[in-house]
Amino acid sequence: MYLYLGSQSKSFLNCCYKDVISLSLRKLSNTMDVLITGGAGYIGSHTIIEILTHTDWNPISVDNFNNSTPKTYDRIKEITGKSIKHYDIDLKNIDRLRVVFEENNIQGIIHFAAHKSVPESVDKPLEYYTNNINSLINVLQLQKDFKVPYFIFSSSCSVYGSTTALPVTENTPIGKTECPYAYTKVVGEQIIIDVAHIEKDLNYIALRYFNPVGAHISGKIGELPNGVPNNLIPFITQTASGIRKELTVFGSDYDTVDGTCVRDYIHVSDIANAHVKALEYLQKETQATNFDVFNLGTGIGVSVLQTIQAFEKSAGKPLNYKLGERRPGDIAKIYANTEKSATILGWKAEKSIDEMMDSAWKWQQNLDNQSL
Ligand code: NAD
Ligand code: WQD
Repeated sequence: MYLYLGSQSKSFLNCCYKDVISLSLRKLSNTMDVLITGGAGYIGSHTIIEILTHTDWNPISVDNFNNSTPKTYDRIKEITGKSIKHYDIDLKNIDRLRVVFEENNIQGIIHFAAHKSVPESVDKPLEYYTNNINSLINVLQLQKDFKVPYFIFSSSCSVYGSTTALPVTENTPIGKTECPYAYTKVVGEQIIIDVAHIEKDLNYIALRYFNPVGAHISGKIGELPNGVPNNLIPFITQTASGIRKELTVFGSDYDTVDGTCVRDYIHVSDIANAHVKALEYLQKETQATNFDVFNLGTGIGVSVLQTIQAFEKSAGKPLNYKLGERRPGDIAKIYANTEKSATILGWKAEKSIDEMMDSAWKWQQNLDNQSL
């Protein structure tokens, strides 16, 4: 009988025969426990739905709800009909986190959990470095201890800083980052590179998201911005629903199609699907190196005014906005070259800007109708 053990081969000798059979059958039947850190959050929850609807994997979430709510798990169940195992644990507490690895047979990790606000990171750098770096180190330590073969890290296009080389490829040099948040992603990637260099049997991918927006097509889960949103889409939807009086467009004198900044907005469900593709790719164990990095964008640059127009079409009403001053730290335009993820991961974003706006608006209207 052929037992495929992949990166588990080292622990093979230490396992009793029964454990080996059970481990191998899990791999052969393609079911595996996948740890999702930050699974109650915006991108994590959409990824859990993608996993539950398109794979046999068993997602297990760890989240301390510092930027989310446990109700997200109920909504995931409402959408998929499936309950998931979850733990309310702060990733900074390695002893509590270790129990999750002891209680489950985790074969893959998708590490979403982090603080993510750019301005807040400027105000609270120590909090950002402590949370984002310590959490990552703890997860990597346990991955190593338990020999979990596959690890995926949420990185960001913010690692490119204010590059002018467009579209941005994965080989575009890491730029000078604008804020502590972005620097946690630069350092996070470097920590993973250093660990991967030593842990040759373990496999790592960093996914650099561009601007994830929108919500699940059901409108039942989406982004839960904390206080006044910094990001464009939640500010637009909150303005349209009357929570905010007016949107200010930050700068209209950039060297772009209409003077406003250009970004690569990508539907959150496309981002979620890329994680499934990335983990499937790692499972094949055909990659040339055990660390790789991929851009997740559509490759299409859209200006702030074009985004507003798309939203107005979705909502069927005009948005109250004015043109204002530039926001310090903004770059004029950035969008992804997506060739590498298409060629290697076999992934491509599919949803249009209209679908992003439709779903974001549907989610906002749902939020307005209930206390989430
Ligand atoms: P989110 O805030 O909605 O989700 C993050 C989740 O992690 C939250 O539920 C939060 O409670 C949890 N968390 C944070 N610190 C934790 C800790 N110490 N222990 C346990 N749980 C903890 O954010 P998101 O938009 O889903 O982002 C997910 C990841 O993607 C983050 O790493 C973020 O930096 C990255 N990213 C996000 C964007 C974006 O625009 N949303 C863009 C690029 C990269
Ligand atoms: C988009 C455009 C604003 C609000 C941020 C992070 C980045 C990554 C993605 C995590 C810009 C304009 C915005 C408003 C506006 N996140 N805008 N009025 O800045 O591209 O990227 O999210 O990794 O790290 O920096 O996104 O949504 O804030 O802004 O005109 O009220 O909308 O100037 O041009 P950004 P954003």
